[in-house]
This record gives sequence, structure tokens and C-alpha cells, in this order.
Amino acid sequence: MRSKAHIKTHPIHPMLIPFPTAFLTGTFLFGVLSFFTGKDDLWHAAGYMEAAGIISALIAAVPGIVDFRYTVPPDSSAKKRAAKHGIINTGMLLVFITAFLIRADEISLWVIVLESVGMVMLVVAGWMGGTLVHRNQIGVFNRYADSGKYQEAYAVIKGGIVEAGDVNELKNDQMKLILAGKKRIVLGKTEGEYVAFDDRCSHKGGSLAAGVLICKTVQCPWHGSQFCVNDGSVKAGPAKEKINTYTVMEKEGKLYIKV
Ligand code: FES
Repeated sequence: MRSKAHIKTHPIHPMLIPFPTAFLTGTFLFGVLSFFTGKDDLWHAAGYMEAAGIISALIAAVPGIVDFRYTVPPDSSAKKRAAKHGIINTGMLLVFITAFLIRADEISLWVIVLESVGMVMLVVAGWMGGTLVHRNQIGVFNRYADSGKYQEAYAVIKGGIVEAGDVNELKNDQMKLILAGKKRIVLGKTEGEYVAFDDRCSHKGGSLAAGVLICKTVQCPWHGSQFCVNDGSVKAGPAKEKINTYTVMEKEGKLYIKV
């Protein structure tokens, strides 16, 4: 699903995280080397790298928080994973900040021990970040053939009705995500008919707007569950429960969804 913190659809968070990862790993390695060789130069270089690692981590955290808030589908397995990723990274950063603050001119085993703990947390959080990208596709902008331009719109619910757009906005097998209050509704057009359904796979909460719509079937991008977009029934698992569907009405060239 497309990142909300991006440059021309390239997510910013993964662009920035190599910097703190490299600086903080260098801090640890130079600290260990200085301990075994007794070379002060290595120890001082580690201190500079630690400062750069902390600053770049704080900068990288900003688009990460934006993605956590606005890109990761709510009420999903990825949301829980992203929360753990953020908590472990925050802890890791606090450990490195503590090590930096107690660092002095003399080589210190305690600082190296703290940085070792920080390194373990960095690896665990990094592993989770990899899972969020490569399995949960957070920030991955995959568009299937004829899916058209990614469309997302904010709308309000008035009297149980959401104005969803113009009748000519979508072509066959294209989708548009509508954010109305706390609801995330996918408007789709398939076999000439407009359909609407919740943007939440009933398996583990994958975003169906980021999936594929074809021949009245939507496929979740995470584990491939398929649902009939007319009645929400499961066509293929692993999902077992149907998804919510909505009635789409057409009036004077406009589309309305009854919620
Ligand atoms: S979240 Fe697993 S198939 Fe949709």
C-alpha cells in the first residue's frame, strides 16, 4: 500500500533508515575494536558516529510515524507489528542516547555493553521493519494491469450516505479508497457495475484497496483471500468470514454509498 510519506511514490522511511543503521552499527564495532586494541582514535570516532546515528534515527522516525498513523491498515496484524517495531526502536534509541551521555574520553566497557544491548534491539526492530515491507507491503505501491491511477478521497457521512464521486471516475476493475470518518470503504467498478465494500480483509486486516479487483472478485494482497464483491462471501481462503458490502446508488451523474 502506498506510503503517505513518499517522494513520487517512493517511501521516505526506508530511504532514511540505512543512515542510523550504519552509524549505530559502526559505533558498536568501533567501540569493540577500541576496547581490544586500546586505540583512542577508534573510541572517539565511535562517539561521533553515535551522535550521527541518534540524529539520523530521530529524522528517520518522522516518516515512520506518518506511515504508522496513516499507511498501515488499522485493526490489522501489521498495525500490531508496526507498534512493536516503533516501541523497540524507541527503546533502542534511548539505550544509545544513554550510552552517548555517559561516554567519556576513556574507553568504557559499560558504554560498550549498553551499545551491545542497543544493537540487539536494532536487529530485532530492523527484522520487523523488513517484515512490514516485504510481507505486509507497507510502502509497496503495486499496481496491476489496468488498475489505473491510485485513487483515494476523503468524504463525510451525511444521513447514512457517503458521496463517492462521479459515475465516470472508474473504469472496469478499478478501485478507489474512500475515507469517511472512521470508515474505510472501497468503491470499485467491475463488469460494468459499481460495488462497495470494507477496506479490511476478514483474515488479518489487509487493505483490499491495495489488492486486485477482477470479475466481481477482490483478492487480498497479504495472503490471497478472495471475496465476492456483491455479497462479501469468501471465494477462497485463508479468510473464513465474509466482508461487509454496501449498496451503491447513482443519481445525476454522482455515486452514493449507503453505509
Ligand atoms: S489478511 Fe490474510 S488474506 Fe487478507
